[in-house]
Amino acid sequence: MEAGLVGAGTMGSGIALAFAIHEEYRVTLCDIDEHLAEDGKRRISAKLDRLARKGKVTADTAAAVVARISTGALESLAPCELVVEAASEDMRVKRELFAALQKVCGVDCIFATNTSSLSITEMGQDLGRGLIGMHFFNPADVMALVEVVAGADTAPETVARVKDIALSIGKTPVEVKESGGFVVNRLLIPMINEAVGIYAEGLASVDDIDTAMRLGANHPMGPLALGDLIGLDVCLAIMEVLHAEFGDDKYRPHPLLRKMVRGKSLGRKTGKGFFPYTT
Ligand SMILES: NC(=O)c1ccc[n+]([C@@H]2O[C@H](COP(=O)([O-])OP(=O)(O)OC[C@H]3O[C@@H](n4cnc5c(N)ncnc54)[C@H](O)[C@@H]3O)[C@@H](O)[C@H]2O)c1
Repeated sequence: MEAGLVGAGTMGSGIALAFAIHEEYRVTLCDIDEHLAEDGKRRISAKLDRLARKGKVTADTAAAVVARISTGALESLAPCELVVEAASEDMRVKRELFAALQKVCGVDCIFATNTSSLSITEMGQDLGRGLIGMHFFNPADVMALVEVVAGADTAPETVARVKDIALSIGKTPVEVKESGGFVVNRLLIPMINEAVGIYAEGLASVDDIDTAMRLGANHPMGPLALGDLIGLDVCLAIMEVLHAEFGDDKYRPHPLLRKMVRGKSLGRKTGKGFFPYTT
């Protein structure tokens, strides 16, 4: 099966790898220009080299996976049966991309978006075909879950087909209707926000909050370390979407979260968040 990926950044390259690991898929990776798509492919190749050095895949397998990935302009997605859009989280960018894809791809091609927070219904307006959310988690080649998100115009057959596709690449799909944060982020990000509040109120230290949730709730990682990993700016953006969407103050971003984002304490990506990092 031919799959297209639009956006060769963190998620697009991870999703491309998640498909290309499987022999039955051929993947074409696109970005704003072909150099960026090639950069994405180089990152995939480097990751496979690292896995080969650790003995987790053979060198032959790594080479075969890379050979199943090509790069190209949007027009090269014409033969695809599925296109997953993983471009920047911007409604205008995504709507323009799907309008362009509409001219390139066949009527039966499934259009999916990896958006974390934007409305799939709004994104698909004027397309004449229902979009679907295929929400992977970072790193997409490793994380087992795909939230399959139905917008108002998504056909049940498309939902069933996309769940099958997710299963075919070894993922576990969960079906969810479009709504702010879907399932995972609606539960996870308010928990991180609450942990920020517990720290800000001086009730427990950063280490003790994280230890409490690791040992008391059996979470593999504490909420503050997880916030640092996701990016505190991303956590804030998702809290703002939840707050705006539901109008409920239980989703109010904690002022300390805002303050840290303003101060560029974004977590791992800036080298400081709730914990220090060497970048
Ligand atoms: N990072 C995460 O943990 C995560 C998890 C799940 C979903 N998402 C979603 O995945 C999407 C991508 O996120 P990311 O973290 O990979 O971002 P990123 O910034 O790493 O990558 C985005 C890529 O899109 C490209 N792009 C921008 N405009 C484009 C256009 N018009 N045509 C083609 N390519 C274009 C950029 O050049 C860039 O390479 C977003 O919608 C985000 O919300 C992210």
